[in-house]
Parts: sequence; structure tokens; C-alpha cells
Amino acid sequence: MRETRVSRIIKSEDLNHHGTLYAGRMAEWLVEACLITTINLTRKPEDVVCVRIHGFDFRKPAMTGDVIEIRARVAYLGGKSITVSAEVFVNEGNTPSVTGMLTFVTVDRQGRPYDHGLTLSQSYIEENRDIYEVALAARKQR
Ligand SMILES: CC(C)(COP(=O)(O)OP(=O)(O)OC[C@H]1O[C@@H](n2cnc3c(N)ncnc32)[C@H](O)[C@@H]1OP(=O)(O)O)[C@@H](O)C(=O)NCCC(=O)NCCS
Repeated sequence: MRETRVSRIIKSEDLNHHGTLYAGRMAEWLVEACLITTINLTRKPEDVVCVRIHGFDFRKPAMTGDVIEIRARVAYLGGKSITVSAEVFVNEGNTPSVTGMLTFVTVDRQGRPYDHGLTLSQSYIEENRDIYEVALAARKQR
């Protein structure tokens, strides 16, 4: 199960009225990276819909000319759901400037949820325990 990595350069059309990266643009890129992660897993793009954007944390601003890298990983697999966690690094920094988590559901042609039949290996859970625990806690809160 591979991590998705997407790089972008911040351009003038990506900025907000403060001259920093606009949250709406960042959110769009982050959702897309998480969707790609889900599609890479299911191999059925037509069957995937987003059911929840858990939230985004914008910790540090990004400026025009900055290069960002979005890294998205599967955090949790339910029966019909797939939760993906993403981190955004600016100019190859070591700590994420933005984080976010989304949940997708597999649906048939009528839009009805179905079991995707996918599971996480124990070794994957151990390697990704930080995001697994966050996704599990979010699931329990519902
Ligand atoms: C996705 C959708 C079919 C789910 O319908 P539903 O009646 O809630 O389905 P179910 O109750 O069977 O739940 C299916 C899975 O979704 C999960 N789920 C449903 N609502 C959720 C939510 N708000 N947050 C997280 N997970 C959710 C359930 O936990 C379940 O996962 P599991 O099998 O891992 O336990 C329906 O909500 C829908 O069509 N939403 C619109 C999707 C869309 O248009 N997305 C684009 C946004 S612009």
C-alpha cells in the first residue's frame, strides 16, 4: 500500500488576500491527493465517493514560489469506508505545515455502499499507528 506524493509550486493565482496560500486551494489539492490514494487502493475510481472531510489544520503559511509536497496514506479501513490522512511539507521541511483526514466510501452504480473487502496488514498498522489511532478515535466518536 503506497503513499501518494504530489508536488505543487505556489503561484500568484493560489494566494489569498494576505498573499499566502489560499486555504480553499490547499483543501482542493489535499482532497485530490487523498482521493488518488483511495483510487490506487480500490482501482475503481467510479466507485469512490467522499463522505467526510474530518478537518484540516493549517499550521504555517506557504508563500508564492514555495514548493509543497502532499503525502497521503491510508489511515483506516472499515467495511465500506476508507480513511486517508495527509500531510503537507513546504520546501522539503521536516514538520508538516498542513494536515488533514478524509473518509471515502465504496458505492455501486446506484450509489449504494458496498463492502470493499480490503484490510490493513498488522505490519502496516504498526508502521502507521499514529494515523491509525486518530482515524479509529474519529470513527468511535461518530
Ligand atoms: C456515502 C453514502 C452512500 C453513505 O451512505 P450511508 O447511508 O451513510 O451508508 P452506510 O450507513 O451504509 O455507511 C457506509 C460507510 O460509510 C461510513 N460513513 C457514513 N457516513 C459517514 C460519515 N459522515 N463520516 C465517516 N464515515 C461515514 C460508515 O461508517 C460506513 O463505513 P464502514 O462500513 O467502514 O462502517 C451517502 O452518505 C452519500 O451518498 N453521500 C454523498 C457522497 C457524495 O456525494 N460525496 C461527494 C461530496 S461533494
